[in-house]
Amino acid sequence: MASVRVDQKKRALVRNVPDSYTRALAKYFGKGPTDVELARTQHQAYINALESNGVKVHALAADDRHPDCIFVEDQAVVVDGKMLLPLPGHPSRVAEQPPIAEFLMSELGGVQTCTMGGEARMDGGDILRLGNLFFVGRSSRTNDLGIASLRSLLDDFGFELRVIDIPGHALHLTSIASTPTDTIILVPEDYLAAEAFGDLPEDCEVLWMPADEAYGCNTIGLPNGKVLVAEGYPTVHSTLRDRGLDLVELDMSEIRAADGSLTCCSIFY
Ligand code: GLY
Repeated sequence: MASVRVDQKKRALVRNVPDSYTRALAKYFGKGPTDVELARTQHQAYINALESNGVKVHALAADDRHPDCIFVEDQAVVVDGKMLLPLPGHPSRVAEQPPIAEFLMSELGGVQTCTMGGEARMDGGDILRLGNLFFVGRSSRTNDLGIASLRSLLDDFGFELRVIDIPGHALHLTSIASTPTDTIILVPEDYLAAEAFGDLPEDCEVLWMPADEAYGCNTIGLPNGKVLVAEGYPTVHSTLRDRGLDLVELDMSEIRAADGSLTCCSIFY
């Protein structure tokens, strides 16, 4: 989940891979998954990597009625003790939310929860946090009314929100950008304009990666200084290593096949 700071990533919710996973939506990075058992193996390795790096993980049962249910990031936005339950932007994904919401409400006892209604739409995958600065993608899944709901949640904290238009060849903002630390944004060339993120705080920087490593720009930085990365993106890896970061490489091929990235598979809370 890209709405918490790195130091806040102590607990994560994931959801197991359903038998129906081969029917997951795929239009961008992926051509559709073909091997459910391999997806399960990769998903378990992802859980193991989180746990062995100090994150307490809870796995919800899969729901075969929802082929995309492993991509929990889209279903809830947790910010500093408040939670927004977005109306997901693809109709097939709306009914994934209730067990996720129920679990988080019980874990975060008394959490102030906001919901979306009417025509507002948002996938949590469109939200990126850099310290106390937030970005949201205006995408095929997230519209201006959805962005207004997020803005009203962030206004309560005094956090700034900047809107970034996502090009038609990308699914979400986090499909093409991540913050492996609270001072770095990784993003591929040829997807966003150089000024897309605006002026950043003095100690922060945008690192532009080759367009053919776009998928590799999705990473998860953890409080112990480790960064989870997808296998196979050498420029991303060498750039992060050059900054002294210690990487944990994961084979994400069957997750990528359904347009899913590392951050899509968890909600930190
Ligand atoms: N397959 C993930 C999504 O399209 O939402």
